[in-house]
Amino acid sequence: MTGRLQGRTVVLTGASSGIGAEAARKLARLGATVCLLARREDDLEIIRAEIAAAGGTAHTYAVDLADPEAAEAVAARLLAEHPRIDALVNNAGRSIRRPITDSLDRVHDYERTMAINYFGAVRLTLALVPRFLEQGHGHVVVSSSMSTQVPIPLFSAYLASKAALESFTRSLTAELGHQGVTSTVVYFPMVRTEMSGATSIYQAMPMLSADKAANWLVKAVVDKPTRVTSLPGAMGELGMATLPGVITKVSQPLFRRMDRSLARRTKR
Ligand SMILES: NC(=O)c1ccc[n+]([C@@H]2O[C@H](COP(=O)([O-])OP(=O)(O)OC[C@H]3O[C@@H](n4cnc5c(N)ncnc54)[C@H](OP(=O)(O)O)[C@@H]3O)[C@@H](O)[C@H]2O)c1
Repeated sequence: MTGRLQGRTVVLTGASSGIGAEAARKLARLGATVCLLARREDDLEIIRAEIAAAGGTAHTYAVDLADPEAAEAVAARLLAEHPRIDALVNNAGRSIRRPITDSLDRVHDYERTMAINYFGAVRLTLALVPRFLEQGHGHVVVSSSMSTQVPIPLFSAYLASKAALESFTRSLTAELGHQGVTSTVVYFPMVRTEMSGATSIYQAMPMLSADKAANWLVKAVVDKPTRVTSLPGAMGELGMATLPGVITKVSQPLFRRMDRSLARRTKR
């Protein structure tokens, strides 16, 4: 695939760590000019320097995308500094694992998660849409989760924000696909990063590496499929489309058992 993105510019959010950092290196290796967005300026700079040392081109934009003014300002800078933007990868995100019964007085959990996972991504996308229409092409990728494909407990704020983003992204293609604006939803399974590391019992869970997960984002940018999914995720979707009651009922005790088993293995 070397050189397949030569001459293209890709805006990538959440590029300071995890899947986004690995994807930045891989996209640059394929020839793309990458615009790296996240809050941690020093980490972005390390990745930019690595890409430059390998002969690639990267630009850093330190920004809190949950801050509406900052997000709009960075979008204006991107448009001013890059005459061509081929793809936007909305990968920045935060996760919260908390039972609904512990969230009864915590609506702010839902608001904060939406602020970055949904509104941050929507704001940036809306700012770039006029450029995509002008160019006659533009591809939007969103990092979502396999857990929106099946009913998973304990992540209500996180999964609701991701489901909203998926729906927005589908609308984007439904409305503007004929004018060249396309999109991919990437349904990641669990990936070993700072995000998943925040839950101690997940230490015992087998996960995809950030390096392998980044290949999913690269595939989304290069091949522009409608979705990138695991087989279990696709089967989960099929099950929910055909037998939602059964799948929801059968999966509940399985998840409780899985959490108990992970907790036991983590303690060992
Ligand atoms: N890890 C998993 O198991 C998993 C599974 C399914 C989906 N995903 C999704 O994959 C994406 C990448 O996650 P990851 O696992 O690579 O986690 P990560 O290492 O924690 O990366 C999250 C990225 O988002 C950025 N970010 C967070 N809040 C931000 C804000 N307010 N403004 C700008 N940037 C912000 C972070 O940078 P700064 O802290 O520097 O701002 C970081 O670069 C996320 O959307 C996540 O929901 C992950």
